[in-house]
Amino acid sequence: MSLRDQAAEVLLGNWRGHNTIPAPGLYPHQWSWDSAFIAVGLRHLSSLRAQQELESLFGAQWADGRVPHIVFDPEAPRQGYFPGPEFWRSEEVNGPQHPDTSGIVQPPVHALAAWEVHASDPETSRRRSFLERLYPKLVAWHDYLRGRRDLGGRGLVSIVHPWESGMDNSPSWDAPLQRVEPVPPTEFQRRDLDHADASERPTDADYGRYVRLAATYRDHGYADGLQVHEFAVEDPVTNSLLAASEAALVRIAQELGEPAHPHEAEVARIRDALPLLLEDGLFHSYDVHGGDLVRGGSVAGLVPLVVPGLPQAQDLIATATGPRFRAEELGVVPSWDLTDPLFDPSRYWRGPAWFNITWLLQRGLDDHGAPELAQVLRTGMLTAANRSGFREYIDPRTCEGKGAHHFSWTAAVVLDLLATS
Ligand code: SER
Repeated sequence: MSLRDQAAEVLLGNWRGHNTIPAPGLYPHQWSWDSAFIAVGLRHLSSLRAQQELESLFGAQWADGRVPHIVFDPEAPRQGYFPGPEFWRSEEVNGPQHPDTSGIVQPPVHALAAWEVHASDPETSRRRSFLERLYPKLVAWHDYLRGRRDLGGRGLVSIVHPWESGMDNSPSWDAPLQRVEPVPPTEFQRRDLDHADASERPTDADYGRYVRLAATYRDHGYADGLQVHEFAVEDPVTNSLLAASEAALVRIAQELGEPAHPHEAEVARIRDALPLLLEDGLFHSYDVHGGDLVRGGSVAGLVPLVVPGLPQAQDLIATATGPRFRAEELGVVPSWDLTDPLFDPSRYWRGPAWFNITWLLQRGLDDHGAPELAQVLRTGMLTAANRSGFREYIDPRTCEGKGAHHFSWTAAVVLDLLATS
C-alpha cells in the first residue's frame, strides 16, 4: 500500500462521526491542537470532514472564549482515559447541555488550520459559510488568551498547566513544577500506562503534579489569576502560534470583508514582545512566579520561526542546524537538546521528534528564506514515516517509532506533505 493510502487509512479509521481521535486506546476523545493538525491533513481526503473537525471542537468552546484541550466523547468507555469528565466537572461551569470537556487549553494553532482548510476548497467552505461561522469563535478564543492569560503583565500569554503546552513532560517544566505538591499516586489511577510503555511516558511524580494543578484550577471554578495558578509560564509555542494564527485571521478577515488591521497589529505586537524570551539563539519559557527565564534546550524555542517576519529567524536556523538539534543531518528535529544530559530519545517530550513540530518548522523555514532546509525536513519526515509507520513520536537518531500506533497527526502531516510538496 502506498504511504498516502496508509495515512488515509489511519485518519479514516480514527474518524468518529464528527471528529477524529488522536489514536485508538491512549487518546479516545477529541484533543484541541491534535484536531487542528488533523484538519490540515484531512482536507486532502475530505474538505467537509476537515471543516467538521474544527466545527465540532469549537462547538465545545466555553462562554469565556476558551477552547478546551479535550472534548469528551460520551460514546467512549467512561474509564478509558484519566482524567475524565468526572474529574474536570465542566458542567458545573457550562451547564448540562454543553459537551463535557476539560478546563485547560492547548496551543492556538486553529486559525492557521482553518485558513488552510478553507484555501484547499474555497467553494465548499463558502457554500457552508465555514469561515463566517468560525471567525467570531476564533476571535473570542484569542481574546480569552490575551485577556485572561497575560498573567505576567508583559503582553505574552501564560500557560497554567504543562498539558497546555502540548509538550507535557518537557524538561522546561521541571523547575517551575518543583513548587507544586504532587497528589500521591495512590489517589488516582493512570490509564495511559494501559496503552503505552512506562519508559515512553511521563513519570508518576509528573502525573501527581499535573493532577494537583488541574484540581486546583477546577476548585477555583476555572478562574484565572496568579493566586490560583502555581504554575504560570510564558511559553514560546503558545505565543508564536498565536501570532501565526493572527496572521491567518488577517487572511480570513479579508476573505470575509472584515477589517484585517487589528490582526495585523496583533502579529506585530506579539513579534515585538517575543524577544523577552530570547537568549543565545533560542527562545525560552519565562516562569512568572520565579521572575526569570527557564533556560534549556526545548524545540519549543525554535517554533517562533512560524511568526511572519521574525527578525531573529537566522539565529534560530543556526541553532536548529547546530549540535543541539542537528536538523539538517537528522531530517527531523528532536524535542530536546541532543547535547544535554536530560535528552532522552524515548520519553515523550524529553527528546523524541514529533511530526507536528517538524511540520511547523518546515513552514517557518520556507517563510524565512531557508527552503533547502525546509525540503530536508519534508524528506526526513516522509522517510521516517515510511520506516516507522504512523507512530506518535520517534527516536530522532534512529527513527525508531515510539508511543501510540495509528497516530492521527502523524498521518495528517504525511498527507499534507505528499499533497503540497
Ligand atoms: N497529553 C496528555 C495526555 O497524555 C494530556 O493532554 O493525556
